[in-house]
Amino acid sequence: MKVLVVGAGGREHALAWKIAQSPLVEQVFCAPGNAGTALVAENVDIAADNIERLLEFARENNIGLTVVGPEQPLVLGIVDRFQEKGLRIFGPSKHAAEIEGSKEFCKDLMWQYGIPTADYLATASMKEAKIYAMDHEGPIVVKADGLAAGKGVFVCGDSSQAIKAINSIMKDKAFGEAGNQVVIEEFLKGQEVSLLAFTDGKTVLPLEGAQDHKAAYDGDKGPNTGGMGAYSPAPVFTPELKQQVMETVMLPAVRAMAKEGRPYKGILYAGLMLTSNGPKVLEFNARFGDPETQPLLMRMQSDIVPLFEACIDETLDQQQIQWKPDSSVCVVMAAAGYPGSYQKGTVIQGLEEAAKLPDVVVFHAGTKSSGGNVVTSGGRVLGVTALGHDTQSAIANAYNATARITWDGAQYRKDIGGKAK
Ligand SMILES: Nc1ncnc2c1ncn2[C@@H]1O[C@H](COP(=O)(O)OP(=O)(O)O)[C@@H](O)[C@H]1O
Ligand SMILES: [Mg+2]
Repeated sequence: MKVLVVGAGGREHALAWKIAQSPLVEQVFCAPGNAGTALVAENVDIAADNIERLLEFARENNIGLTVVGPEQPLVLGIVDRFQEKGLRIFGPSKHAAEIEGSKEFCKDLMWQYGIPTADYLATASMKEAKIYAMDHEGPIVVKADGLAAGKGVFVCGDSSQAIKAINSIMKDKAFGEAGNQVVIEEFLKGQEVSLLAFTDGKTVLPLEGAQDHKAAYDGDKGPNTGGMGAYSPAPVFTPELKQQVMETVMLPAVRAMAKEGRPYKGILYAGLMLTSNGPKVLEFNARFGDPETQPLLMRMQSDIVPLFEACIDETLDQQQIQWKPDSSVCVVMAAAGYPGSYQKGTVIQGLEEAAKLPDVVVFHAGTKSSGGNVVTSGGRVLGVTALGHDTQSAIANAYNATARITWDGAQYRKDIGGKAK
């Protein structure tokens, strides 16, 4: 079978890498891909949100399965379009992807179905938003309703910061249409973990737990980013907590979506805060997380392709996932300046040396090939990912590999996995 992976980041490199190992797969394509996906797949020069050209490519090349990485094409309805044309594609429909595409929809769904989450107000009125913010002492969180590439959330220390955030989202339209509405919510304290699960709309098959590192700098300081590293398993996310999340969050969410006439198939990703009152949902995503996917797929023993197929065919109840007992850690190497503005086109050294290390895979994110070199082409450049018999040795292996890779202005956090101690 030929498989098409849609997207260009570290998540897509990890997906293409894992899919290419399947005995069911003869060839993998990645659109548009990066210099890393080119090592395991054939890159196709079509943007991830150009649905009509992707469809044309899949039909012309007899693609048996398409796997979508990023949220944008899902929210635009890529799954619906492929299905209309009789093509097999893994991911939620446009209506189901709204669970990520609209924070208001997501919060209202949780509220209606009793899924634990922060108290909130969702509104299109700037005046109402500001009154709510003024009424709340202490920290509060302001979120643009729509997709904002991970930049539309402001954790505000007090109401004056919240007013600034509301102005930036609703008045200055910093995120365009995504800011037509806002969600303002109660600040939750605790450790953040992610639970991703395959679902066919009925059965929910969870992956192992993972923890992401959102902040740019060590000690969770600095601005939020797409994610500066991740590891799995996360010891704080005990089997008991995972079971609790399955029962109070994942299964109710999948049932709720079915009841709302938006049957959910694909990966359902819950971003969770482990509060003193139990796990609460920060948000749902409609796809694999980046960079959590990198350590998760390094640990996955089972072939991933039958899992995709079972979600499409609604036979997930017949599947299981085998995991390696090892821990895995992914350290994201970013360009200087990220998440602000950064330079592109800098030559990266040491990739081959790092790749030779045992138990290490260097997943590419913002890279491309240029004149025989691999050069930077994005903010998050690489996800250096390693296995180890425990978290400490996975950390050591990942940083040992990271130390061999250099370019002018490379920056990365030195404390990924540190919370597992
Ligand atoms: N209610 C909350 N309390 C505390 N922190 C929050 C809250 N909501 C979001 N955050 C922080 O902001 C980050 C981004 O918020 P999230 O809802 O996941 O939006 P997105 O991923 O779309 O930017 C979270 O990973 C978390 O660190
Ligand atoms: Mg998030």
